[in-house]
Amino acid sequence: MTIRKISILGGYGRAGNKDPVERVDLAMGDVLSIVGPTGSGKTALINDIGLFAGENTPSRRRVLINDAVPSTEFLDDPSKNPIALITQHTSFLSDLPVHKFLEIHARIRHSGRTGSVVDDTLEFANQLTGEPIIVDSAMTELSGGQSRALLIADAVIIGNSPIILLDEIENAGIDRSKALELLRKYEKIFIFVTHDPHIALLSNYRIVMKGGAMQDVITTGAEEQRIAGKIDQMGKVMDGLRDKIRGGELLVEEELRVIMELANLRSTGDVR
Ligand SMILES: Nc1ncnc2c1ncn2[C@@H]1O[C@H](COP(=O)(O)OP(=O)(O)O)[C@@H](O)[C@H]1O
Ligand SMILES: [Mg+2]
Repeated sequence: MTIRKISILGGYGRAGNKDPVERVDLAMGDVLSIVGPTGSGKTALINDIGLFAGENTPSRRRVLINDAVPSTEFLDDPSKNPIALITQHTSFLSDLPVHKFLEIHARIRHSGRTGSVVDDTLEFANQLTGEPIIVDSAMTELSGGQSRALLIADAVIIGNSPIILLDEIENAGIDRSKALELLRKYEKIFIFVTHDPHIALLSNYRIVMKGGAMQDVITTGAEEQRIAGKIDQMGKVMDGLRDKIRGGELLVEEELRVIMELANLRSTGDVR
């Protein structure tokens, strides 16, 4: 079955109030962020999607695939499930060496070209994490960032999942902007629960959660897209400072002044 579209139909917030957003439709290639304070219902919403909710979760929301109630096959047979959900707690239940695990998964999913699929998966994963994955190490020895990176790469390339859900991978040691840049090259639906303004503004839409309810859907317009570029520069400045601290260097006021001045010129002038 080819998935073209996924829809979330509103249910109720935590206090039993109706979701102000009645329906959200996502087409292949769309990136959606879910934003809101801690406890506002972001994980509950992403779980509704992952479970193909049919008024059977606390929110009473419904999820449709191609405008129809999803087949029960999706939940019963993991190899047919079009959704991959990755959270801070997701991990691999395997102590096989990385290359063995990927080869086996590739063999189950594809027929033939296992070699290049495994290499592509590792290359993708290594672009997401600062610590390259050693293919002979056991899956259980991977760091948090490495295993999160491998989970994403595995879901995208070997699993070939058309819908990928990522719940707050913020502190997992993943380059999130890089992840989104790479993911954009695949025709999939990506849904990020995030507190990262750069990711939120690089998304096509964002659902704003409040009190367990879908409060609003905001489409990223041209102005916010321009701001996303500026936020990226600010992030790079912060990354530079972080690297210096990590490297045992002292920060110097003069240097910071120059950085701030340059940043200020760029946000007021026309230099991009
Ligand atoms: N629509 C809802 N109906 C009932 N309970 C909800 C709803 N949305 C969230 N909750 C509950 O509220 C709590 C916080 O929600 P959660 O999704 O974990 O928030 P967040 O991920 O934004 O921090 C959880 O116990 C969750 O089960
Ligand atoms: Mg959460």
